[in-house]
Amino acid sequence: MFDLSGKVALITGAQRGMGKADALALAKQGAIVIVTDIDEKACKAVADEIISSGGKAAAFAMDVSDKKKIDAVFDAVIKQFKRLDILVNNAGIFRPKPALDLTEQEWQQTIDINLTGVFLCAQRAAQEMAKKKCGRIINIASIASGQVGVGFMGSAHYSASKGGITAMTETMALEWGPLGITVNAIGPGAIDTPMVSSTKSSPEALRSINARIPLGRMGTPEEIAAAVVFLASDEASYVTGATLFVDGGYLAG
Ligand SMILES: NC(=O)c1ccc[n+]([C@@H]2O[C@H](COP(=O)([O-])OP(=O)(O)OC[C@H]3O[C@@H](n4cnc5c(N)ncnc54)[C@H](O)[C@@H]3O)[C@@H](O)[C@H]2O)c1
Repeated sequence: MFDLSGKVALITGAQRGMGKADALALAKQGAIVIVTDIDEKACKAVADEIISSGGKAAAFAMDVSDKKKIDAVFDAVIKQFKRLDILVNNAGIFRPKPALDLTEQEWQQTIDINLTGVFLCAQRAAQEMAKKKCGRIINIASIASGQVGVGFMGSAHYSASKGGITAMTETMALEWGPLGITVNAIGPGAIDTPMVSSTKSSPEALRSINARIPLGRMGTPEEIAAAVVFLASDEASYVTGATLFVDGGYLAG
């Protein structure tokens, strides 16, 4: 089960955190992994790690808020590998700030990276996947995506972007299902990555977060990668339009 041999998987924001864990996990299942992020050197380090443990990988610098760069990278990947089977839209930023103080530029930057970037990469991937009538698109949302009764302080821009992802995922699943493409989202809870390092460095903040999680701890990037592998696999062939929350029970609380 979960054999991805020969499949080509592109991951955004894959130089560290969850994106890197996704890259390593997909490679372990046999996928050829295209590691993309803003810093080419850091992407190459992840690709080298995969290659040195017997996997297949390539690295490309790709800022998801730059449509020209997205098109250039997708063109290069298709030219080199002749196919694209899996896209993991993982890149994202979280810069919390009270809504009263948020500038238009800060709002727009979060929307450009977290939401428009996901749309542009998904659209480009679907155009390629439709040619082979087969594909898997996995969008990384969040528990901070506007679920009823679950608000987060300082997250107006972030929650808007992540709520947009879950909504957009359903529309894409409807429109692209007939093209053989499944589109799903994953809604991580609090996951131990560099994104939340400030929370971790404050014992009080960490205690208060853990107290709200039924499993009593943050998740690991590998626990998100396991869900990515499932949704990318043939075994998830009848799953589309779903948001899978991997949150230690946070939303049930
Ligand atoms: N860590 C959490 O608790 C948590 C919870 C819910 C959702 N998420 C989401 O999971 C995803 C991964 O986050 P993470 O926790 O691994 O954070 P992270 O900060 O460790 O990783 C994010 C990656 O995205 C890259 N990135 C940022 N801007 C980019 C751009 N313009 N173009 C391309 N890449 C860019 C960064 O360089 C980085 O490698 C994000 O979408 C985040 O919003 C994280």
